[in-house]
Amino acid sequence: MRTLVFATHNRKKLAELVELAGPLGLEVVPASSFPGLEPPEEDGATFADNAAKKARHTARFTGLPALADDSGLEVEALQGAPGVHSARFAGPGARDANNNAKLLTLLADVPAAARGARFVCTMALADPAGPLGEAVHLTTGTCAGEILTAPRGQGGFGYDPLFFVASEGLTFAELPSAAKHRLSHRGHAMRAMIAFLSTYALS
Ligand code: IMP
Repeated sequence: MRTLVFATHNRKKLAELVELAGPLGLEVVPASSFPGLEPPEEDGATFADNAAKKARHTARFTGLPALADDSGLEVEALQGAPGVHSARFAGPGARDANNNAKLLTLLADVPAAARGARFVCTMALADPAGPLGEAVHLTTGTCAGEILTAPRGQGGFGYDPLFFVASEGLTFAELPSAAKHRLSHRGHAMRAMIAFLSTYALS
């Protein structure tokens, strides 16, 4: 069995990847299994920059192939903001409720037809001792939706209660988690990475 480190402390993300990687004979271990492994600062201009930085850092620290992801929300009426700043949109230490409140305030005068948005997730694989060498392999997934004028639903996290998916007639916070994973930016990026790993000779 080959081992891959996933640079996340999020148990749900880990469980999703473990489930997808199992059939490939891949054991996925979280960053928390490595004492002293701290995430690098996410100061890149793009999701790809941040994911690549985290994956490289984790592979270097652990000596194992590593996967990392970076994700966020891009709102059309805000020219792609909050983007890579999604987690701290309302300032350092911002909570989900603060970020959602800021988003609603900025969009207060924006009509329904102009409230389009998408979630984006980029995953990066670093495998310095394998065929990739110093390169990273990137996969990106997106999910299109609209920003509501008030939150709906209790599930999920982050911007989920404001993110409405027209095809389902529900927000991400109202969708069962399996349905969210099927539709979501992260689900698409993870499955694309799994497809790559199924043909790649990991070190
Ligand atoms: P991270 O890449 O998991 O650190 O996510 C960065 C930020 O983007 C999160 O803190 C959320 O604010 C936002 N975000 C990313 N994915 C989602 C999602 O699936 N639902 C809601 N918010 C998300």
